Amino acid sequence: MYNIKKIETHGRSLRVRVDPEPEREGRPALWPSVGEYPIYDPFLYTTMTTDDERNERFRAALSQLAPDRNILDIGTGQDLLWAREGVQAGAQHALAIEVIEDAFHKAAANLSAFYPQDQITLLLGESTNLQFAPRADVCVAEIIGSLAGAEGAAAVLTDARNRHLKPGGLVVPHRAVTLAAAVRLSDLLPEQPVAFAEASLPYLRSIFDWHGMPFDVRLRVENPSAGALLSEGAPVEVLDFNGDLRTEQRRTTRLAITRPGHMDGVLTWLNLWCLPDEEPLDALHMKTNWATIYLPLFESPVPVAAGDVLELTFAATLSDDGIHPDYQLSAALHTADGREHHGALASPHHGGSFRAYSIYQRLFPTS
Ligand SMILES: C[S@@+](CC[C@H](N)C(=O)[O-])C[C@H]1O[C@@H](n2cnc3c(N)ncnc32)[C@H](O)[C@@H]1O
Repeated sequence: MYNIKKIETHGRSLRVRVDPEPEREGRPALWPSVGEYPIYDPFLYTTMTTDDERNERFRAALSQLAPDRNILDIGTGQDLLWAREGVQAGAQHALAIEVIEDAFHKAAANLSAFYPQDQITLLLGESTNLQFAPRADVCVAEIIGSLAGAEGAAAVLTDARNRHLKPGGLVVPHRAVTLAAAVRLSDLLPEQPVAFAEASLPYLRSIFDWHGMPFDVRLRVENPSAGALLSEGAPVEVLDFNGDLRTEQRRTTRLAITRPGHMDGVLTWLNLWCLPDEEPLDALHMKTNWATIYLPLFESPVPVAAGDVLELTFAATLSDDGIHPDYQLSAALHTADGREHHGALASPHHGGSFRAYSIYQRLFPTS
């Protein structure tokens, strides 16, 4: 069973399905995807500064690339994390940029308390709107989403390579890939309701307040049940930050169903390389602040059997802000009885429909 709670946003009262059980270590939890919105707070920053899987990879890359170099930390956050690590690793200088004012002011207070001003320079603003010199040798930017490109990494780092980095300069991370596999949402959350975690409600409200109205937010699933996948995972979005980096992309993938079950969408997760030759961080199999994202494709679950094939087209196009991608999915499920089931989803960064899919009608009931 679930509870109904109300959130107020722009003078409108919304009913939201909420899981009555509190979140606890290892238990699945449903949240809105938060990383792609300017709503970071100390809690979210702390989930990142305490993420060892993530931090050890960024640290290893900086210890290799930062010594004697000028580094640029895009999205430094309240803790100036990679600017500080870069300087500790021997960088000549770090330029740190943060767009969220609260986080910038906290970072500025940290900077004046702990660091000589000439080692780290901090700027307020969006890297894509700022001009500065000289260009950096290395750009570190942890602006990677649970859907790898969702925070605008492709557009921001294309701009950084064109305007802020020296020719031949390097970007950390090196590569990010989003993988997808066939699932049914209720299998990801076994023996618990399909309902938001209560702790996520303030973030849901912040996203709607930021946009000015509610919309069908992407669904973040923490600790999804390990046995829920109905197919292998395959890459649907590829970001090569030091190579052929595309701000928009489209890819069709065939996912072979490996066991009988029911599917109504896909689960996506991040693989991330900070250096080219390392074992990637895998957000499905490792404990990290990145979670999986569930994307609905069919209004009701479709029975599947081993050997069925989901042909999935996954596209990222720039939203009207020119930075954050909108995602579009279309799917054809070919089942053994010779039938084809078609599904599609538009998942814009902001705006778009509200309660368009049955899953959102259930999560935001009107009565
Ligand atoms: C995922 S957090 C990472 C924070 C910190 N660097 C860390 O790794 O723990 C991303 C941060 O980047 C900031 N950000 C995203 N895009 C930016 C841009 N183009 N320019 C400046 N800041 C940006 C966000 O406001 C947020 O604070």
